[in-house]
Amino acid sequence: MNKSTIFIILSTLIVFTGFTGFTGFTGCKANSNSFESGSKPEPESRVSALSERVINDELKESGVFALELFADSYSASDFVEGQVDPAHIELMLMSGMKAPSAKNAQPWHFTVVTRYETASELLSFVKDGNVLIIVSGNPDIITDTMEFDCGLAAQNIQLAAEALGYGARMYIEPIGRIDKQKNKLGIPGNHKVLTAILIGPVDAGIDTTAAATTRNDLSQHVNYAD
Ligand SMILES: Cc1cc2nc3c(=O)[nH]c(=O)nc-3n(C[C@H](O)[C@H](O)[C@H](O)COP(=O)(O)O)c2cc1C
Repeated sequence: MNKSTIFIILSTLIVFTGFTGFTGFTGCKANSNSFESGSKPEPESRVSALSERVINDELKESGVFALELFADSYSASDFVEGQVDPAHIELMLMSGMKAPSAKNAQPWHFTVVTRYETASELLSFVKDGNVLIIVSGNPDIITDTMEFDCGLAAQNIQLAAEALGYGARMYIEPIGRIDKQKNKLGIPGNHKVLTAILIGPVDAGIDTTAAATTRNDLSQHVNYAD
C-alpha cells in the first residue's frame, strides 16, 4: 500500500469519526466517567472532570488514528526551513475538498503560495520551503454558511498537514495584506479572504500536548439536554 492510499484511508476515518464527538465514541475507556454502550449515564458524570489531560489520554488510548491525530494536534510556531512535498500539498488540498458544506455549495477557494519571497511578504517569519495555503470563500454561492464551510475545509487542511508529519497553523493576522494583493495572488475578486495556513517541517520529537494551548474543562462547554 503506498503513502497516498494510506492517507486517503486515514482521511476517510477523520471524516467519519471527527464529528461524532466524544460522547458517540463508546470504545472510550480508562476513566471512571466512561459509560457502557446502551446504559443510560448520569449526565453530570459524563462531562465532569474531563480535563484536557484526560481528553488527550482518552483519545491517544483509543487506538483510532483520527482521534490520536486530534490529541496530537497543535498550532505550530516553531517552523524550520525545509520543503513541503508537492504531492503532500495535493493531498492537503484534496482533504480540504472533502469537507462537508451546506447544500454541498463548496464555497471555498485555496491559493497555494510556495515562493518564499511572496510568502514572506504576507507573513514575515515564514521559513524558506514553508507553504501558505490561503482559504477564501465565495459569498455569492452561499451567504449564510460560507465562512462556516470554509472553516471546515481549513481545519481539514491543517489536520491533513499534521497527519503527513508537518506543523501547521492558521493565521488571520495577514488577511489585510492578502486583501491588498488579491489580484497578484490570483484570488477571485469577489471572495472574502478568511485564513492563511502556514505549513512546514517542525522539529521532530516535540511534546505536542505541551505545545498546544490549554483547553477549558469539557464540562464548561457541554450540557446534555433532557
Ligand atoms: C481562524 C483562526 C485564526 C487564527 N489566527 C492566528 C493568528 O493570526 N496568529 C496566531 O499566532 N495564531 C492564530 N491562530 C491559532 C490559534 O491561536 C490557536 O489555534 C489556538 O490558540 C489553539 O492553540 P493550539 O491549536 O496550539 O491548541 C488562529 C486559529 C484559527 C482557528
